[in-house]
Amino acid sequence: MKEAVQSVTMWKPGAGSRSSVSPAAVTAVSCLLVTGMLVLSVGQPGSGDPVEPGAAATSGKVFSAYFRKLTRERRAISPPPRKRSPRAGGASLPGGPFIAVKTTGRYHRQRLELLLDTWISRNMQQTFVFTDGEDEELRKRMGDHLINTNCSAAHNRQALSCKMALEYDTFINSAKKWFCHVDDDNYVNVGSLLKLLSQFSHSQDVYLGRPSLERPIEATEKLGTAEMKQVSFWFATGGAGFCLSRGLALKMKPWASEGSFMATADHIRLPDDCTVGYIVEALLGVRLLRSALFHSPWRTWGWCQTYTTR
Ligand SMILES: *[C@@H]1O[C@H](CO)[C@@H](O)[C@H](O)[C@H]1NC(C)=O
Repeated sequence: MKEAVQSVTMWKPGAGSRSSVSPAAVTAVSCLLVTGMLVLSVGQPGSGDPVEPGAAATSGKVFSAYFRKLTRERRAISPPPRKRSPRAGGASLPGGPFIAVKTTGRYHRQRLELLLDTWISRNMQQTFVFTDGEDEELRKRMGDHLINTNCSAAHNRQALSCKMALEYDTFINSAKKWFCHVDDDNYVNVGSLLKLLSQFSHSQDVYLGRPSLERPIEATEKLGTAEMKQVSFWFATGGAGFCLSRGLALKMKPWASEGSFMATADHIRLPDDCTVGYIVEALLGVRLLRSALFHSPWRTWGWCQTYTTR
């Protein structure tokens, strides 16, 4: 419970990329989103008594009792109330991270609008949505923070690495110090994210996230025409969100910038998030820093593995 409260990202049961969304799942999603907002607003004036998550969670009573307790504890330790800021979490600081959200046309209504009504709207300065089709309504809400990658809408390796390539290039061309990637079924607690990143220097080599497998992934590198080499490395699962410092991202340029990311993904024949791990761990020799603050629905079996064995 405590861990979830401090989490950077939260996963939403039933909202995974391959499952169809049932009404029950949608209710569960809203429940988690509500708890996320509570986390952001506790300790501020007017937060009052916590919202009842209601029947959505089987543990609704436990939740609300927990949040009442949490609110009391926060009140006891927090400084005198400040004026409510529309930018909860101070996320629009110039040093704040670049948050890339990966989505696809068919989830604009189903997922993105929920995010726009919650965490993205409070952190618009930081957040860029990478999609694969134009959308007038979203364009009105997000302006140039909606990026039409023109990548294929297919859920395959090429399409995914095409989006990641553009996320990377857009970050490199920005003035931001951290690159963070999340999927459209992640809720980002930007305050927690800032707190986590503040423990590191953006000029050092930092790759933060959560592995989806309990062991490093094994892959085969093509060396020339017939020669193959086994490599093994850890990667942070994209579905849970991960972050890279600017210092490390700059070192990745030869394998990641201006289209070379797709070539690297082809070379190793792995999806986008695995390719990031390959560049960082196998090519640059930098280790993934594991953080349990990132959450993924796929963590139990690892979608990278299911992807590669399909
Ligand atoms: C995608 O295509 C549109 C229309 O041709 C163009 O305006 C836009 O810049 C393209 N996006 C990228 C990221 O190249």
